[in-house]
Amino acid sequence: MSIAICPGSFDPITLGHLNIIRRASRIFDRVVVCVMFNSTKTSPMFSVEERVDMVRRAVAKYPNVTVDCSDGLLAEYARQFDGAVVVKGLRAASDFEYEFQMNLINKKINPEMETMFLTSSEKYTFLSSSIVREMARYDADLKGLVPDEIIDEIREKAKQWRLG
Ligand code: PNS
Repeated sequence: MSIAICPGSFDPITLGHLNIIRRASRIFDRVVVCVMFNSTKTSPMFSVEERVDMVRRAVAKYPNVTVDCSDGLLAEYARQFDGAVVVKGLRAASDFEYEFQMNLINKKINPEMETMFLTSSEKYTFLSSSIVREMARYDADLKGLVPDEIIDEIREKAKQWRLG
């Protein structure tokens, strides 16, 4: 059985992430979405539990997609799935340099691990979780940016943030 791991911080999951996950779910028999820590993103808007819950709701319609979380290294996490391929989205050339470096580090830790990149759909090349967080903080419309199922939760969290 072919397995893809889609890792990310998903703070929160966007339609760009979901597009990559959906496409991976057509290529692989099984997709594991893993909510992880990104040490460069130190003040997340949502807890890991909240992020996992939002991703679960967003992927519920895809029968071969499951959701997990890990606070460890991606290259170590991948060892538990024999032959699994890490799948990541590439939005622009600017993503490539970072992803290339990550890939080299991951290969050093786990030489068996392979990473595949799917280019982002054109309509999502501008989209990122940080854009969504920024928009939410100004109470801007999130329709078309994140899955409908999680819009209310993001708006509520942003409201709490505004109230301090
Ligand atoms: O959505 P992001 O923030 O771009 O995802 C990045 C993520 C979480 C996949 C990356 O930071 C990661 O792999 N974190 C786990 C720790 C790890 O393995 N770091 C790289 C080697 S030091």
